[in-house]
Amino acid sequence: MDTTLASPADTWRTGDVRMDDTHEEFLALVDDLRQASPDTLLPLFERLIAHTEAHFAQEERWLQAIGFSAQNCHAMQHAAVLDTLLEVFKRAGQGQTGLVAQMLDALAEWFPQHAASMDAGLAQLMRQAGFDSASESFASGAAFTPANPGGCGSLHCS
Ligand SMILES: [Fe+2]
Ligand SMILES: [Fe+2]
Repeated sequence: MDTTLASPADTWRTGDVRMDDTHEEFLALVDDLRQASPDTLLPLFERLIAHTEAHFAQEERWLQAIGFSAQNCHAMQHAAVLDTLLEVFKRAGQGQTGLVAQMLDALAEWFPQHAASMDAGLAQLMRQAGFDSASESFASGAAFTPANPGGCGSLHCS
Protein backbone atom coordinates (compact mmCIF):
# COMPACT_ATOMS: atom_id res chain seq x y z
CA MET A 1 0.00 0.00 0.00
CA ASP A 2 1.23 3.45 -0.87
CA THR A 3 1.40 5.30 2.41
CA THR A 4 2.83 8.57 1.15
CA LEU A 5 0.70 11.68 1.16
CA ALA A 6 1.49 12.85 -2.34
CA SER A 7 -1.05 11.45 -4.74
CA PRO A 8 0.19 10.47 -8.21
CA ALA A 9 -1.70 13.37 -9.71
CA ASP A 10 -0.36 15.84 -7.12
CA THR A 11 -3.89 17.14 -6.62
CA TRP A 12 -2.59 19.24 -3.75
CA ARG A 13 -0.75 21.62 -6.10
CA THR A 14 -2.33 25.07 -6.12
CA GLY A 15 -0.22 26.91 -8.69
CA ASP A 16 1.12 29.33 -6.08
CA VAL A 17 4.85 28.60 -6.00
CA ARG A 18 5.51 29.60 -2.40
CA MET A 19 2.46 27.71 -1.16
CA ASP A 20 3.34 24.61 -3.18
CA ASP A 21 6.94 24.73 -1.94
CA THR A 22 5.69 24.88 1.65
CA HIS A 23 3.36 21.96 0.98
CA GLU A 24 6.21 19.96 -0.55
CA GLU A 25 8.27 20.54 2.61
CA PHE A 26 5.28 19.50 4.72
CA LEU A 27 4.88 16.26 2.77
CA ALA A 28 8.59 15.50 3.13
CA LEU A 29 8.42 16.03 6.90
CA VAL A 30 5.37 13.78 7.11
CA ASP A 31 7.25 11.08 5.21
CA ASP A 32 10.25 11.49 7.52
CA LEU A 33 7.99 11.03 10.54
CA ARG A 34 6.35 7.97 9.04
CA GLN A 35 9.77 6.38 8.67
CA ALA A 36 11.07 7.50 12.08
CA SER A 37 12.81 5.13 14.45
CA PRO A 38 11.88 5.15 18.15
CA ASP A 39 14.86 7.46 18.74
CA THR A 40 13.97 9.98 16.06
CA LEU A 41 10.18 9.94 16.43
CA LEU A 42 9.79 12.85 18.85
CA PRO A 43 12.41 15.16 17.27
CA LEU A 44 10.92 14.59 13.81
CA PHE A 45 7.43 15.12 15.19
CA GLU A 46 8.59 18.38 16.74
CA ARG A 47 9.99 19.49 13.39
CA LEU A 48 6.67 18.72 11.69
CA ILE A 49 4.77 20.73 14.30
CA ALA A 50 7.08 23.74 13.99
CA HIS A 51 6.80 23.64 10.20
CA THR A 52 3.01 23.26 10.34
CA GLU A 53 2.69 26.22 12.70
CA ALA A 54 4.67 28.36 10.25
CA HIS A 55 2.79 26.92 7.23
CA PHE A 56 -0.62 27.69 8.72
CA ALA A 57 0.45 31.11 10.03
CA GLN A 58 1.72 32.00 6.55
CA GLU A 59 -1.63 31.19 4.92
CA GLU A 60 -3.55 32.99 7.67
CA ARG A 61 -1.36 36.07 7.17
CA TRP A 62 -2.18 35.99 3.45
CA LEU A 63 -5.91 35.53 4.14
CA GLN A 64 -5.90 38.63 6.33
CA ALA A 65 -3.79 40.55 3.81
CA ILE A 66 -6.51 40.08 1.18
CA GLY A 67 -9.31 41.03 3.56
CA PHE A 68 -10.46 37.98 5.50
CA SER A 69 -11.14 38.30 9.20
CA ALA A 70 -8.79 36.54 11.64
CA GLN A 71 -11.59 34.13 12.58
CA ASN A 72 -12.20 32.74 9.12
CA CYS A 73 -13.14 29.09 8.67
CA HIS A 74 -9.86 28.23 6.88
CA ALA A 75 -7.95 29.35 9.97
CA MET A 76 -10.34 27.43 12.22
CA GLN A 77 -9.65 24.23 10.30
CA HIS A 78 -5.91 24.85 10.69
CA ALA A 79 -6.36 25.33 14.44
CA ALA A 80 -8.24 22.03 14.76
CA VAL A 81 -5.51 20.14 12.89
CA LEU A 82 -2.75 21.78 14.92
CA ASP A 83 -4.56 20.94 18.18
CA THR A 84 -4.65 17.29 17.11
CA LEU A 85 -0.95 17.29 16.27
CA LEU A 86 -0.08 18.83 19.65
CA GLU A 87 -2.28 16.37 21.54
CA VAL A 88 -0.80 13.35 19.75
CA PHE A 89 2.70 14.75 20.32
CA LYS A 90 1.96 15.04 24.05
CA ARG A 91 0.64 11.49 24.20
CA ALA A 92 3.52 10.14 22.12
CA GLY A 93 5.85 11.72 24.68
CA GLN A 94 4.02 9.72 27.34
CA GLY A 95 4.64 6.50 25.42
CA GLN A 96 1.52 6.26 23.26
CA THR A 97 3.57 6.23 20.07
CA GLY A 98 1.06 4.02 18.22
CA LEU A 99 -1.17 7.08 17.86
CA VAL A 100 1.35 8.70 15.53
CA ALA A 101 0.67 6.28 12.65
CA GLN A 102 -3.09 6.80 13.06
CA MET A 103 -2.59 10.56 13.00
CA LEU A 104 -0.45 10.32 9.84
CA ASP A 105 -3.19 8.29 8.14
CA ALA A 106 -5.72 10.98 9.08
CA LEU A 107 -3.37 13.70 7.78
CA ALA A 108 -2.97 11.76 4.53
CA GLU A 109 -6.71 11.88 4.08
CA TRP A 110 -7.14 15.48 5.16
CA PHE A 111 -4.26 17.28 3.43
CA PRO A 112 -5.00 16.73 -0.30
CA GLN A 113 -8.64 17.72 0.24
CA HIS A 114 -7.69 20.82 2.21
CA ALA A 115 -5.08 21.86 -0.34
CA ALA A 116 -7.40 21.28 -3.30
CA SER A 117 -10.22 23.33 -1.76
CA MET A 118 -9.25 25.89 0.88
CA ASP A 119 -5.61 26.40 -0.11
CA ALA A 120 -6.37 26.38 -3.84
CA GLY A 121 -9.16 28.89 -3.16
CA LEU A 122 -6.73 31.12 -1.30
CA ALA A 123 -4.22 30.87 -4.15
CA GLN A 124 -6.91 31.86 -6.64
CA LEU A 125 -8.09 34.81 -4.52
CA MET A 126 -4.50 36.04 -4.10
CA ARG A 127 -4.14 36.03 -7.89
CA GLN A 128 -7.44 37.92 -8.28
CA ALA A 129 -6.36 40.42 -5.64
CA GLY A 130 -2.98 40.98 -7.28
CA PHE A 131 -1.30 39.79 -4.09
CA ASP A 132 2.14 38.26 -4.57
CA SER A 133 2.79 35.60 -1.92
CA ALA A 134 6.57 35.69 -2.48
CA SER A 135 6.93 39.37 -1.57
CA GLU A 136 3.68 39.52 0.43
CA SER A 137 2.68 42.71 -1.35
CA PHE A 138 0.09 43.88 -3.83
CA ALA A 139 1.28 44.39 -7.37
CA SER A 140 -1.36 46.93 -8.26
CA GLY A 141 -2.37 48.51 -4.98
CA ALA A 142 -5.94 47.76 -6.01
CA ALA A 143 -8.44 47.24 -3.22
CA PHE A 144 -9.88 43.76 -2.92
CA THR A 145 -12.75 42.65 -0.73
CA PRO A 146 -13.60 38.98 -0.38
CA ALA A 147 -17.29 38.13 -0.79
CA ASN A 148 -17.37 36.54 2.66
CA PRO A 149 -14.58 37.76 4.97
CA GLY A 150 -15.39 35.12 7.61
CA GLY A 151 -15.60 32.34 5.05
CA CYS A 152 -12.82 30.03 4.05
CA GLY A 153 -12.11 31.24 0.52
CA SER A 154 -12.46 27.63 -0.58
CA LEU A 155 -13.00 26.69 -4.20
CA HIS A 156 -15.96 24.60 -3.04
CA CYS A 157 -17.83 27.02 -0.78
CA SER A 158 -18.02 30.75 -0.09
FE1 LIG B 1 -1.54 24.72 3.27
FE1 LIG C 1 -4.57 25.87 4.60
